[in-house]
Amino acid sequence: MTDTKTLVLNYLEENSGRYFSGETLAKELHISRNSVWKAIESLRREGYRISAAPRRGYSLSAKADNITVSGISKNLSPYVSSELITVYDELESTNKTARSMATFDAPHGTVIIAKRQTGGTGRKKRHFTSPEGGIYMSIILRPEKLETDGFSLITPFAGVCVCRAIEENTSVFPKIKWLNDLYIEDKKVCGILAEAGTDFDTGELQYIVLGIGINFNSESEAFPPELRKTVGSLFLKGEESISKNELIAAILNNILKGSIPENIIDEYKSRMNMLGKSILVISSDKEYEAVALDINKKGKLIVELPDKSTRVLSSEDISIKLT
Ligand code: BTN
Repeated sequence: MTDTKTLVLNYLEENSGRYFSGETLAKELHISRNSVWKAIESLRREGYRISAAPRRGYSLSAKADNITVSGISKNLSPYVSSELITVYDELESTNKTARSMATFDAPHGTVIIAKRQTGGTGRKKRHFTSPEGGIYMSIILRPEKLETDGFSLITPFAGVCVCRAIEENTSVFPKIKWLNDLYIEDKKVCGILAEAGTDFDTGELQYIVLGIGINFNSESEAFPPELRKTVGSLFLKGEESISKNELIAAILNNILKGSIPENIIDEYKSRMNMLGKSILVISSDKEYEAVALDINKKGKLIVELPDKSTRVLSSEDISIKLT
């Protein structure tokens, strides 16, 4: 059941910028005026900018930009179900919650979103710092709904979808660093982690959890000092040209559209920032210089070594640094 705070928030969010008296809210939402007042106080304590004007009532600032299901649903395509989206203020990790829901049969298109994470994870089990100001979301995908057998292409596909969603709605053009970091100039603004669940006995793929972390308007001070040189945000606070809800909807519309296009690697390559460039390849036991030559049909990186021989690299084994 939806609590009164969420009812009030959703109503104000759907009508952001407009004023409603306590009496109107109480009538519309079938709750008491006292419950409205308590909900407003509680939302303000959580940081929502709700103004109150004599004789006009309450209004949620149109610029408040809270992530809410009702805010996201305004821009969803018909093939994305808002009923499968849940927004949390805080989670340890949206991927962790989504993985556990996937094992309990949560359907294709289930989406878990958090406004911050206390234990966000990245590739190679690294910590993914997830302060307020970001978008942290995980989407459960069921293989039978994806109309593809190229599951290795899901991560490149997700990178392309996030780039498209950003470009379609802003004047920002992120570039992809293999395998799936999105960069604006020399700062990482988004990381993507796809995790798979297989049947223990048959080895059959049962679900994929696609985790996307975007630094939307996160402030530099929210990141540990050692990350501040390499981590950036899509927007400076106050200069956003799209809301978080709009961006989330655009990403879901792109990812849940249907099958993965056959030419996805061509688009992926055209969005990369490193082809033809010198890179440092870092594996568990050695580091070496190479040139990033190409991406093969399975999304693997082909590099050329100084002796002109080539190698095909898998993202599980290595990290890459642009030199
Ligand atoms: C990386 O950069 O190595 C990938 C980072 C992926 C982070 C996202 S945030 C939402 C989802 N939940 C997690 O714990 N991780 C992913």
